[in-house]
Amino acid sequence: MAFPAQFIDEVRARIGLADVVGRRVKLVRRGREHSGLCPFHQEKSPSFTLNEDKGFFHCFGCGKHGSVFDFVMETEGLNFPEAVEKLALEAGLQIPEQSPQAAAQAQAQAGLYDVMELAAKWFQEQLMADVGQGARGYLRDRGVGKQAVDDFRMGFAPESRNALKNYLLARQVSEADIIEAGLAIKPDVGGAIYDRFRNRLMFPITDRRDRVIAFGGRALGEAKAKYLNSPETPLFHKGRILYNFAQARPQVRESGKVIVAEGYMDVVAMAEGGFPYAVAPLGTAVTEDQLHELWKLAAEPIFCLDGDRAGWAAAIRAAERAMPILKPGYSLRFALLPEGEDPDTLVRGKGPEALQQILDDALPLSELIWRKHADGQQLETPERRAGFKGEILDTARTIKDQTVRDYYFQYFNDRMEKSFGGGNRGGGARNSGGNQRQKRGTPPFSVGKGGGKWQAPEQRLNRQQGLGDPSMRRTRLLLVTILNHPDLVERVSEELADIEIRHEKLDRLRAEIIDIAGRGATLDISTLRTQLNERGLAAVVDALTGNKVTIIDQFAKAEATLEEAEAGWRDLLALDHRNVGLSQQRQEFTAERLAATEEAGAGDQFVKGMQQVVDEEQQLVRDLSRD
Ligand code: UTP
Ligand code: MN
Repeated sequence: MAFPAQFIDEVRARIGLADVVGRRVKLVRRGREHSGLCPFHQEKSPSFTLNEDKGFFHCFGCGKHGSVFDFVMETEGLNFPEAVEKLALEAGLQIPEQSPQAAAQAQAQAGLYDVMELAAKWFQEQLMADVGQGARGYLRDRGVGKQAVDDFRMGFAPESRNALKNYLLARQVSEADIIEAGLAIKPDVGGAIYDRFRNRLMFPITDRRDRVIAFGGRALGEAKAKYLNSPETPLFHKGRILYNFAQARPQVRESGKVIVAEGYMDVVAMAEGGFPYAVAPLGTAVTEDQLHELWKLAAEPIFCLDGDRAGWAAAIRAAERAMPILKPGYSLRFALLPEGEDPDTLVRGKGPEALQQILDDALPLSELIWRKHADGQQLETPERRAGFKGEILDTARTIKDQTVRDYYFQYFNDRMEKSFGGGNRGGGARNSGGNQRQKRGTPPFSVGKGGGKWQAPEQRLNRQQGLGDPSMRRTRLLLVTILNHPDLVERVSEELADIEIRHEKLDRLRAEIIDIAGRGATLDISTLRTQLNERGLAAVVDALTGNKVTIIDQFAKAEATLEEAEAGWRDLLALDHRNVGLSQQRQEFTAERLAATEEAGAGDQFVKGMQQVVDEEQQLVRDLSRD
């Protein structure tokens, strides 16, 4: 609502700036000037000042500047009208009458708020009634407790086209209002209006003042959409609203943290797991409005999105949306969940500690953007590097704030320098960061002719089919498993360090993996690859795992669980290393296929399959020996 300028001046005049600020900042007074430690940034000596006559505060440290309204907006997360209202109340001032138009609109809205509140209460009652038994069972099965059901005011919309409508009509709510509130639908072709939400678990969505303005409904039975949200109404503009914002606000203030998840259930699960400061957009990509709202709450909201392709895409979208509006001191961070998990499954499955760990490891926005461009890239040639550079600097160019933009340029340039060295640095054979382990006393692998000591008798099948170099196969499989399961490193680090690796580049790969893992951060596949790429090992990694490579052994694949990977890895390691044509799984695979040779063609197919693996291994040996 718009206030007359006069009224705002009146509030300003009645309210002492120093009184308001003094509630949060210990002020020292000199005349009409006060100073203290800035509440907007960390400091040890006071650079925050306010001038009562001029009516503004200013921090010489962080540059924050504003009026008493700005101060209340910033420190209490209110918008302008709310700050004015709050201070007016404190000053004992009557909120002024609005224009007739605004008053009419406000009244119509006031009516709709009541309708929404009636509906919310009714849904809650239905959940607790007999008709809600199934929905209660559903919540129980998903591990949602009574407290959360109450806190989030969850409800149930029964399977009926009339139940809510009739309830509201009986309470003198007009059909028009029911439609306007988005609770019922009027068929285009005419006929009776009918309830929008049917057989759904209902989540009320509230505004900043915790008034119900919309609902999200999760389907419990067969339905086209898993979630159905209220349409845009005079109360509800979904691009401006974040689920759980009002409830989370005090918790955010207290903790200084805010988490952004994808869905209702994630927010609920996080609250139950001890993270009550989570919010979510409403099934759409985060908007600029929402980012501004988030930044009023905390300097670095953490996006905690689903560990799938869609979650990654949503993170990138949020990052790209934020870049143009970044400002000094404000950014986003991104917590990457393990594949297939969302915050709900993670908290409930692995516990709050697991989520905390992932939040602690959240990536800065700059890192996310870097990875978006660098991941999976093979930046071997000058042309590709130039292309990469153009792209990533274009991204930085979208930042409107000049200071932040400059730092981004500097950051990306430094990082490129580190990854592929300065273009005009004379002949500097830089290896990546001096982390290289000392070379092991093993001879470089030579194509076509292994050192005698590895030429031990091979498995029957290998001999018969003349299937390549078994020690290479073993090394390769051991490393592939690690690349696909970086969290395995921690479990097998000693064994990994002790494997005899004859090929120089693979030896270096092993050394770098150990080094990267030793730096403590949790590693996922893409983090590890990025870091290996940065250390100039992209080609080696690709030769081992690129999409032309066939991996037969289930445990080595990324889809295997950590336990399977570890078991398979140790099995393989335990095989006599001079005699490893086939790992356990490969033997089973072999046995199975051989048993199937009775069936026409199966044997041939198997031999062809094995031959393909062998061909690839030989190709690998050639690839690795090229420089
Ligand atoms: P998800 O598909 O990730 O669902 O959608 P979820 O939150 O994990 O839900 P559960 O665990 O299966 O119950 C994330 C969010 O996207 C919106 C909703 O806001 C949902 O919370 N969404 C999803 C829709 O609006 N419509 C849909 O059909 C699906
Ligand atoms: Mn979910």
